[in-house]
Amino acid sequence: MRTDIGQVINLADYQPTDFVLERVDLTFELDPTETKVESRLIFHRREGVDGTAPLLLDGDELALSGLLFDQVEMPPEQYTATPESLTIRNLPPSEPFELTITTIINPEANTQLMGLYRTGGIYCTQCEAEGFRRITYFPDRPDVLAPFTVNIIADKAANPLLLSNGNFLGGAGYGEGKHFAAWFDPHPKPSYLFALVAGDLGVIEDSFTTMNGREVALKIYVEHGKEPRAAYAMDALKRSMKWDEEVFGREYDLDIFMIVAVSDFNMGAMENKGLNVFNDKYVLADPETATDADYANIEAIIAHEYFHNWTGNRITCRDWFQLCLKEGLTVYRDHEFSADQRSRPVKRIAEVRHLKSEQFPEDGGPLAHPVRPTKYREINNFYTTTVYEKGSEVTRMIATLLGKETFKKGMDLYFDRHDGQAVTIEDFIKCFEDISGRDLAKFSLWYHQAGTPLVTASGTYDAGAKTFSLSLEQMIPATPGQTEKLPMHIPLSLALFAEDGAAFAPTSVDGAEYSGSVLHLTDRAQTAVFHGIASRPVVSINRSFSAPINLHFDQMPADLALLARHESDHFARWQAFTDLALPNLLTAARDAREDRPVVVEQTFVDTLLAAAADESLEPAFRAQALALPSESDIARELGGNNDPDAIHAGRQAVITQIADAGKDVFSSLYESMTTPSSFTADAASAGRRALRNAALTYLSYAENSPTRAKNAFNAANNMTDLLHALTILAHRFPDSEDASEALSTFRERFAENPLVVDKWFSVQAAIPGTGTLDRVQNLMAHPLFKRTNPNRVRALVGTFVFTNPTGFGRADGEGYRFLAREILDIDRRNPQLAARILTSMRSWRSLEPIRADHARSALLGIERTQGLSTDVRDIVERTLKG
Ligand code: TRP
Ligand code: ZN
Repeated sequence: MRTDIGQVINLADYQPTDFVLERVDLTFELDPTETKVESRLIFHRREGVDGTAPLLLDGDELALSGLLFDQVEMPPEQYTATPESLTIRNLPPSEPFELTITTIINPEANTQLMGLYRTGGIYCTQCEAEGFRRITYFPDRPDVLAPFTVNIIADKAANPLLLSNGNFLGGAGYGEGKHFAAWFDPHPKPSYLFALVAGDLGVIEDSFTTMNGREVALKIYVEHGKEPRAAYAMDALKRSMKWDEEVFGREYDLDIFMIVAVSDFNMGAMENKGLNVFNDKYVLADPETATDADYANIEAIIAHEYFHNWTGNRITCRDWFQLCLKEGLTVYRDHEFSADQRSRPVKRIAEVRHLKSEQFPEDGGPLAHPVRPTKYREINNFYTTTVYEKGSEVTRMIATLLGKETFKKGMDLYFDRHDGQAVTIEDFIKCFEDISGRDLAKFSLWYHQAGTPLVTASGTYDAGAKTFSLSLEQMIPATPGQTEKLPMHIPLSLALFAEDGAAFAPTSVDGAEYSGSVLHLTDRAQTAVFHGIASRPVVSINRSFSAPINLHFDQMPADLALLARHESDHFARWQAFTDLALPNLLTAARDAREDRPVVVEQTFVDTLLAAAADESLEPAFRAQALALPSESDIARELGGNNDPDAIHAGRQAVITQIADAGKDVFSSLYESMTTPSSFTADAASAGRRALRNAALTYLSYAENSPTRAKNAFNAANNMTDLLHALTILAHRFPDSEDASEALSTFRERFAENPLVVDKWFSVQAAIPGTGTLDRVQNLMAHPLFKRTNPNRVRALVGTFVFTNPTGFGRADGEGYRFLAREILDIDRRNPQLAARILTSMRSWRSLEPIRADHARSALLGIERTQGLSTDVRDIVERTLKG
């Protein structure tokens, strides 16, 4: 493992390479422990570069075993090889030359899952961001693009399948028991998009005819026997290809598109050109084993990786500081795809829930960083929810600000102008400035200033003048390394409603630009005056969550109730439910902490129950309204000195009161929201299941008995219902006979299916209360627990530390000490995974003093450890400092 050397990379230091790479020709002789990699690279010195400058190539844990210059062995005094670099001197001043570099690597020993590694008996690669340098010495940076030829030689019986990027050139036998295959990718690409897969896998095949009539072969490779479970992913792929043609005008550009599903993978999936590699969790699904959420994730991630073909691959990043150029934009594209395939408002609610529960805490804590950072120690630690999700929100704001049509033209210009290039965020923004004629300088600050802006609003109505004045102020909190912030351009979708729910159309607006129902807040403080407003309006601000901000706007419960009933934007309706719920949950948390009885506002309960029973609303929307803000949402709103036990107890009391008041509503929903016995994964059926299961949860509180959940568990004919019933049993009645019986039944039934075994671990890791730490530790000794499998570690350890504030955040600090021990253990094998799990400590400063103290000590214990990876050292130091 590479340990930290304290090096920091700065955006300001960016320089193009001295040498231009013309072509790459790789030959792999695969062997589990001694794979030989021969890399032939053709370079020439860039015009204007000093004729004596050496060529610098990156490596990571490499050993050089051969180096030829134009086919002739290079004299040792002409180069220096270390595990991290290969430096070559005395190269020609201008004419092209060829280097042949040989390395021997050990895929079997590669537990970091970066570079070439083994998983489930197959060979597989992961090169983003800096994994290619673990295969061979190379200018391993995204602005070095070249066409790749790849030759793969391997044992034929063990590896009937030999895959790489691009189009298949040919293959043949190769000596005793071996064969080879050759692939050529004509699209110049950076090394991070290289992929190789070899082994024995099953396949499902299909084809897609592009808008220009070209036929593309589609193949999804999975473990033998799992082929039928790839059908939904294939369907999602074809829908993605069609959608990208229809909505963004983007056509696929090779003869073949392949996806390989593997079971050991650090993240969700990877967009390697023509050969996406997926965590099998985001490929495999069938009704018995996948939940509705799994289906939705598969659809979104298949789309995401496919969309990268244009936003990421054809146009890539100049350097890793520009990561949001491909990730933020591609997340925006996959969000729009899912919105079109499903229910737009429900999708938007789910996105905002996710953004607030993951990105807002990051942006408000020690790990806060701009969407486009300017320095990093470990790039792996910048694949964050800020870069992805806030990056997507910033893209969405461009569309809101310019309007759909101008945005589309700007995207077309971007594809036209930059196809084949490695570019920056500035290049991207320039396309929208050029197409719209708007100055986006104040808007661009969204990329550069970290922290969630706080917008404070207050309104006054003047009946005589028939005007409504809305004063708005923006404040961007200080974040690590950024104390002073400038006002940004914030697009706020906004509407004014009359008492009867009809929208006002103002005759004119001054004090701020208001066009297409978007109010443009551009100064620190602004007052917008709406003219021609016949009566006191109820204002809806930040509809559809047009800007990723915190909004402080004191609205009366009656006004919120009006919005909850009448807002034409259903996202804003949901927001009104949340705004009604939050004060109740905050008060409940405070009351629980002081042992006072919890009392819930009647307006809130009435509004919520009315919505639950309102048949004009989509079931999925009603389920979202019934799912109250989470414990971490409440903690964030409380802001500091937090006691997870009180937050939990308060929230439980609120749920119980809603459940008691709504017993009849919930029983009738439970009876009526059934789905046909033959399962379909469509959004409408999923919505009915979600609402029925929400009703089941409330009933389990009202009845305070496991019986109904137990019956639901026994009756379930799909994983969504089964897992929901199991969760109620385990979380609400953890010590009951019914819970332990259901857990064993579930385990026995699915012991052969790793993705379902992960669910079995997760459910238990999320059981609220102080006893769960012991349970988690016992589960780590269970024969089904696998330390080397990232999905399994995330399912048990990750679920515990990220989603269980009362279990992990025990007042005695045992949870934090457990985490510290596990981080050190995981770090030895897989630094990326360890660092990711350690980010669960990002909100430690907002804990009450006793817990905060324990948390700090645990972090200091990690920090004091010698030989940490760069990944973990970077996270632990920033977490303690910020
Ligand atoms: N680029 C990938 C995506 O978002 C994710 C990714 C980045 C990744 N680095 C990785 C996946 C390392 C696995 C391992 O689509
Ligand atoms: Zn991505």
